[in-house]
Amino acid sequence: MLDFVANKVHDENRQGEAFAPFKDDVNEYSKKFYIESYGCQMNFADSEIVASILNENGFGATRNYEDANLVLLNTCSIREKAEQTVRNRLHIFRQLKRNKPGTLIGVLGCMAERLKEKFLEQEKLVDIVVGPDAYRTLPGLIEEAESGQKAVNVLLSREETYADISPVRLNSNGINAFVSIMRGCNNMCSFCVVPFTRGRERSRDAYSIINECKDLFENGYREVTLLGQNVDSYYWIDEQKDETVTFAKLLEKVALIDPLLRVRFSTSHPKDITDDVLFAMKKHENICKYIHLPVQSGSTRILQLMNRTYTREWYMAKIARIREIMPDCGISSDIIAGFCSETEEEHQETLSLMEYSKYDMSYMFFYSERPGTLAARRYKDDIPEEVKKRRLDEIVKLQNRLSQESNKKDIGLICTVLIEADSKKSAEEWMGRNSQNKVVVFPKKDLRLSKGDYAVVEITDCTGATLLGKAITN
Ligand code: SAH
Ligand code: SF4
Ligand code: F3S
Repeated sequence: MLDFVANKVHDENRQGEAFAPFKDDVNEYSKKFYIESYGCQMNFADSEIVASILNENGFGATRNYEDANLVLLNTCSIREKAEQTVRNRLHIFRQLKRNKPGTLIGVLGCMAERLKEKFLEQEKLVDIVVGPDAYRTLPGLIEEAESGQKAVNVLLSREETYADISPVRLNSNGINAFVSIMRGCNNMCSFCVVPFTRGRERSRDAYSIINECKDLFENGYREVTLLGQNVDSYYWIDEQKDETVTFAKLLEKVALIDPLLRVRFSTSHPKDITDDVLFAMKKHENICKYIHLPVQSGSTRILQLMNRTYTREWYMAKIARIREIMPDCGISSDIIAGFCSETEEEHQETLSLMEYSKYDMSYMFFYSERPGTLAARRYKDDIPEEVKKRRLDEIVKLQNRLSQESNKKDIGLICTVLIEADSKKSAEEWMGRNSQNKVVVFPKKDLRLSKGDYAVVEITDCTGATLLGKAITN
């Protein structure tokens, strides 16, 4: 679902990215692991936990899988295509195993959870299968696999949040970091495999979150994104203070670490985002004015079949409320084309709701039936593939127009940009994002700015996905 920048959530575009901790070149480890991550940002964050556990157990990272004693794939099951990509990758590793028979291959993440032992039967070269709540047992499983046994742990937990494990920041730009605040999901959206692969929802200790964010800030990071499948249902009881920490409170606590630390979050479920969260965003300049609010469909009947628990009108009222409280807030969405029994009129309702919401950006998919989900058990996947694709195409075209219009409206705007890197096209230009999460590119000129600085930029032009501008202060 992610498109243009490195740190979006749920993107098949990010699949195949290899991570290597910065301790990479230090020869303090006797063995090497290689890890590839697929799927959502939470999976990428989990790979950083896994790297930490492996570092503690004598494994250093390598960027080259041919050098590794242990090759890990952190997998995604969200759509059929995501699983197919992993299977193709496993075929490539088959050759590696032939050349270097001692190499262990491990499958982590949602596909491991979905397929469990079946993985070992289907993909004969896999030695280790570990579900998302069982990463602490990885060192023991590696030992088992080294002794020639097949090692599997796919137990889901009601408590595990890995709160005490300091993630090893992998492939990081040193500016943006992702911090998991909860795991699992209790919403049974009928199309979705996540409740089955990630288990029950549980929130992480608020102190451990705040300490991790403080630590990041002290180490030069300037933006944290708080991650969960449904962040608005974050709920943690502070027994020391006899206080309940809701998501709105957590946001404020993280925002108060330092005004120079930007705070983002993902994902919000429309049914759970509260006025408290909106007012916390409005109150703190450093909480970014950007909400990812997946609608999935614009038809009330389809939303009911999807078990999203809101109607078209309810969603529209939520958009209106966000715009009333924060007129400058960026809003993006996830949209599914061609869900079971969707009519042409209902598809049109999705298009008209997109127009109403004026999304700055969307992640768009056609429906992919996932075995075991409520929709797979209850409804027929009856929209022909060519119809799904044509509807998706219409959705994508409309979103392109909306994104273009949204960017054009920003010409003349003055905004604060957190500088992340050189622009992809030129070392003479900076790339960063404004509060609304839009990518902004501007010439470095002779201003003494660096990565991690904030620049005030006047927007002078735009392309479909990027705002172009000039820095007006230092
Ligand atoms: N927890 C988040 C999103 C999780 S999955 C939320 O509720 O918004 C990310 C996106 O993938 C979903 O929002 C949905 O648009 C899409 N998705 C999930 N299951 C899908 C399926 N079976 N077919 C097509 N798209 C799907
Ligand atoms: Fe899936 Fe719905 Fe949970 Fe999101 S809220 S992870 S779409 S079940
Ligand atoms: Fe994420 Fe994919 Fe699992 S989207 S939660 S890695 S199924």
